[in-house]
Amino acid sequence: MYKIGFLGVGKMGSSILLGIINSGIYKKDDILIYNPSEIVKEKFKEYRFVENEKVLAENVEILIVAVKPQIFNDLKKYEYSLQNTVIVSIVAGKTIKDLESVFGNRLFIRVMPNTPALIGYGATAISKDPAVPDCVFNKVKSIFETVGKVKDIDDNLMNEIIPTNGSMPAYLYYFAKSFIENAVKHGIDYETAKILASDAIIGSAKMIIETDKSIDELIKDVCSPKGATLEGLKVLEDNNMNKIIDEACDACIQRAYELSKL
Ligand SMILES: NC(=O)c1ccc[n+]([C@@H]2O[C@H](COP(=O)([O-])OP(=O)(O)OC[C@H]3O[C@@H](n4cnc5c(N)ncnc54)[C@H](OP(=O)(O)O)[C@@H]3O)[C@@H](O)[C@H]2O)c1
Repeated sequence: MYKIGFLGVGKMGSSILLGIINSGIYKKDDILIYNPSEIVKEKFKEYRFVENEKVLAENVEILIVAVKPQIFNDLKKYEYSLQNTVIVSIVAGKTIKDLESVFGNRLFIRVMPNTPALIGYGATAISKDPAVPDCVFNKVKSIFETVGKVKDIDDNLMNEIIPTNGSMPAYLYYFAKSFIENAVKHGIDYETAKILASDAIIGSAKMIIETDKSIDELIKDVCSPKGATLEGLKVLEDNNMNKIIDEACDACIQRAYELSKL
């Protein structure tokens, strides 16, 4: 038996795979993969691949299901004969019931990770099904802890957390890109703007976590009365940035519910 199997090593699966290899908790020999694409096989040629989903699931202790929700139901094409395999799903929207419909009555853990797991800065939400013993849950949780922060969350909130962690990198990249574009428009070179904007995001995130100030206090600290920051903030407020973000998050959650029905 291999310690851990990856059903799909696309953008998210590969971030977890490479993150845990970089962390040193698993070696390449501990890992088994199934992914149909030849390009992916070439990219991960130092790892052992198997010929199909069934062989993978039947030969690993922990199976990380990292396929798109759209192809999830294709996994039903096999009768899986599993020993003690624990199924860990990162598939957006797919519930324990959906997982049971594929793998039968097993131990399931749902996880919502994000791609910074690749560099050890992941933010992962994990939910515990009552059927899963603590020792199994803690083992899986500790895997994700090697690639960033992990928070327990109620299983029925796994879709609601997606904009806050799973999708958040995309929103922040979008945000960062807009600021960098503005700097470039004003004549600042792209690399300089990229470094300063990125470090401003890292520093601000650390201020939220490491100081005991509220987010409102932190905002106030940057906005001197009648100062430049405040003028910019007024434009965001006048354009209902808060409402736009709220709607974006709701649309993301709504889509997760739609994906669960595919
Ligand atoms: N991307 C994120 O930031 C993120 C964050 C949190 C959760 N997730 C979840 O992670 C899952 C994967 O998302 P992704 O962004 O990583 O997508 P992706 O890049 O498309 O990766 C999916 C991988 O699965 C492979 N695949 C297709 N059919 C397969 C099969 N039958 N068995 C095994 N592998 C198969 C694909 O190979 P081909 O290239 O050959 O199609 C691809 O490499 C989704 O369910 C998503 O909800 C993603």
